[in-house]
Amino acid sequence: MGESPVDDWSAVPQALRTGAALPPCWEPLFGPFREGTIDDLVVVGQVGQSLDGRIATIGGRLEYINGAEGIAHLHRLRAVVDAVVIGIGTAMCDDPQLTVRHVAGPNPARVVIDPRGKLAADARLLADDGARRVVVTTRGAGAALPPGVERVALPDPDGGRLDPAAILAGLAAVGFRRILIEGGADTLSGFLAAGCLDRLHVVIAPIILGSGRPSCTLPAIADAEDALRPRVRTVPLGDEVLFDCDLSAQRRVVGQAKKSR
Ligand SMILES: NC(=O)c1ccc[n+]([C@@H]2O[C@H](COP(=O)([O-])OP(=O)(O)OC[C@H]3O[C@@H](n4cnc5c(N)ncnc54)[C@H](OP(=O)(O)O)[C@@H]3O)[C@@H](O)[C@H]2O)c1
Repeated sequence: MGESPVDDWSAVPQALRTGAALPPCWEPLFGPFREGTIDDLVVVGQVGQSLDGRIATIGGRLEYINGAEGIAHLHRLRAVVDAVVIGIGTAMCDDPQLTVRHVAGPNPARVVIDPRGKLAADARLLADDGARRVVVTTRGAGAALPPGVERVALPDPDGGRLDPAAILAGLAAVGFRRILIEGGADTLSGFLAAGCLDRLHVVIAPIILGSGRPSCTLPAIADAEDALRPRVRTVPLGDEVLFDCDLSAQRRVVGQAKKSR
């Protein structure tokens, strides 16, 4: 595909929020964030991985997987969404800030899926910096949250996992429409397997990591012919490559359905 788009970025987050036209070089990549194709939500997953499909070393942190351009892309994704979502595994392993620091743009709300109330009160994503902070939990997990932190409490799925569609519906009910599922593997895989992503951005770094955490853990399929084959655009990001995968064909309706598809 074409060149790596770098110009006029600062206009993009605001243009998406006001419905204004995007600078042309950003339209192919960020135009799909304008509105959902299936319902009124736009849900995008992202993963930064090595050539051998790893998102982290066995015990390590994520920041050495992607280079500067891959990380800038992640921060652009954060800047255009209302909320960025991670699982409690990533919150505990990386203690991320989930702010926009490498590009221009506003900080999104920060959401952690923590069904059993394990999040530490001093986690950096809970910092009171003006962004909304939300913990998705089950009704039974009653750990107190710091002042100002919102709780989206979902019915306890009887020891099973929360349905990603129910998580999205809960987030839509508190006002979020553009949502980034940032990871980790367990969380992202759940949304992918449940048909709850409109798009998946996979940024592949030119490194081979060896043993480490795989980028996805999905149910087995019997035959390669049954593989999901999304429409894909590739965009070079320096020496990394972004695969922008359109998953709208298998996306479940979660929010307000479009009248015609
Ligand atoms: N390279 C990248 O792009 C990237 C991005 C993010 C993270 N990471 C890496 O990913 C690793 C962590 O990933 P991970 O897979 O171990 O953990 P994770 O996905 O961050 O968190 C998984 C946990 O979140 C909760 N959870 C998520 N979805 C749920 C659902 N539908 N229902 C109920 N609970 C749900 C569960 O908590 P309970 O265990 O309490 O049930 C689950 O065990 C770290 O090494 C981090 O560095 C890499």
